[in-house]
Amino acid sequence: MNDKERVAHYAAQKIKDGMLVGLGTGSTANYFIEELARRRSEDGLCVRVVSSSVVSAVKAQSLQLPLLGFESINHIDVYVDGADEVTPDLTLLKGRGFDLVREKLLARAADEFWVLIDSSKRVDYIGANYAIPIEVMPFAWQMVKHTLELLGGRGNLRQTTHKDGLVVSSYGSLVLDMTFESGLDSQVLNNLLNNTPGVVEHGIFHNLATAVLCTVDDDVVEQLA
Ligand code: 5RP
Repeated sequence: MNDKERVAHYAAQKIKDGMLVGLGTGSTANYFIEELARRRSEDGLCVRVVSSSVVSAVKAQSLQLPLLGFESINHIDVYVDGADEVTPDLTLLKGRGFDLVREKLLARAADEFWVLIDSSKRVDYIGANYAIPIEVMPFAWQMVKHTLELLGGRGNLRQTTHKDGLVVSSYGSLVLDMTFESGLDSQVLNNLLNNTPGVVEHGIFHNLATAVLCTVDDDVVEQLA
């Protein structure tokens, strides 16, 4: 079992009967979805799920997990997802999968938000290893980019692997991947991005995680916020 699988299985064991569970997106989330479905079919675990992305929704449905429509819920028990970076104060960088809107809504709507990582995801500051994904209204991308450049940001629109293709989110947003000076505090950046017109959502998750579950050697260690 690899680290992602181990931490995902550990998290799935913590799910209790009756819970409404938010499903994340990515390879770690996929392992969690598979183990949750196994517990439902083999152990009789009674859960309902809601998904942060079309991809995870399709996976959940294919494994017969009872999937609720996103628009039908206003609150969930727990949201379980991976992350790209985690700082010591449990600020996260997310969004390599780019559909950030539903991810942040579920993180906010959840009583608990468990973040599943291995130790390679731990960083001293947000932006240490990755650019910050910023979903923008398509017609606003030049204005947003210019505003962020005046704040020291550098970057460009995310491209698909196809020739000349741009990544477009499920809701039609484009994605700017921007880097900022390493000294720029992530809370300051979070506030700046929240207050920039044309930004739909961004990958800094500040004050949202309630626990980080991290593989250490053969174990999983829980860090509570
Ligand atoms: C998707 C995310 C993912 O959770 C993040 O990219 C981690 O992915 P993985 O589990 O594949 O390492 O934020 O938007």
